[in-house]
Amino acid sequence: MKLTLKIWRQKNNDAKGELKTYPIDGIEGDMSFLEMLDVLNEGLINKGEEPVQFDHDCREGICGSCSLQINGEPHGPDRLVTTCQLHMRMFNDGDTIVIEPFRANAFPVLKDLVVDRSSFDRIQQAGGFISVNTSGNTVDANSIPVNKHDADESFNAATCIGCGACVAACKNASAMLFTSAKVSQFALLPQGKIEATERVLNMVAQMDKEGFGNCTNTGACEIECPKGISLESIARMNREYLSASLEG
Ligand code: SF4
Ligand code: FES
Repeated sequence: MKLTLKIWRQKNNDAKGELKTYPIDGIEGDMSFLEMLDVLNEGLINKGEEPVQFDHDCREGICGSCSLQINGEPHGPDRLVTTCQLHMRMFNDGDTIVIEPFRANAFPVLKDLVVDRSSFDRIQQAGGFISVNTSGNTVDANSIPVNKHDADESFNAATCIGCGACVAACKNASAMLFTSAKVSQFALLPQGKIEATERVLNMVAQMDKEGFGNCTNTGACEIECPKGISLESIARMNREYLSASLEG
């Protein structure tokens, strides 16, 4: 395939960015989107030009690093896949592909397509954990019965990889889907009940402090989430928040 890439280039967060056009040839349908960018970068390096910076690590849909807005959609046109799992067969010979970083005030651009998502880390650190006594009398996790439905729902919430596509998809740049997945993961388990009140209050407070927008129930986050995290998580977090506020 021959393609025309329009890629966001930006030196750093203070610099003004712009879309630059790069023609590319010899792209196979079986290549992943990131392999296509590797081919582009090899060509740029061979010409003595600066390669395009983009984030990636596992390249198998696990780490959540690869965060590209492709033709206006986080992770591109396929469903339930991350950018690294997106294949070039989703595009046609002659296509123009616009590639931008995830856009949100709470995700400042570091360089080109790389954004700083440490705001997510701080939300997680505000309460996305359980405290366990490890001083020699730790209770075996299997000794606490958990019903199958709750275990499955908790596992589903735990599949959130913190990629940020939900934020990039949202017109308000809301982080409700991410935060609610992290709250739900613990809210559904007995082990998570002990710190439930402070967890939801602290995580929501941190989310607001980071400058993410409000949820207006548009549902774009659910559609673009590569892990299929459902809006039910947001409803669950709202219930947790209400009861925590009444307790507090
Ligand atoms: S909820 Fe989905 S889109 Fe949002 S960070 Fe988690 S995996 Fe990514
Ligand atoms: S590089 Fe890890 S999820 Fe894409």
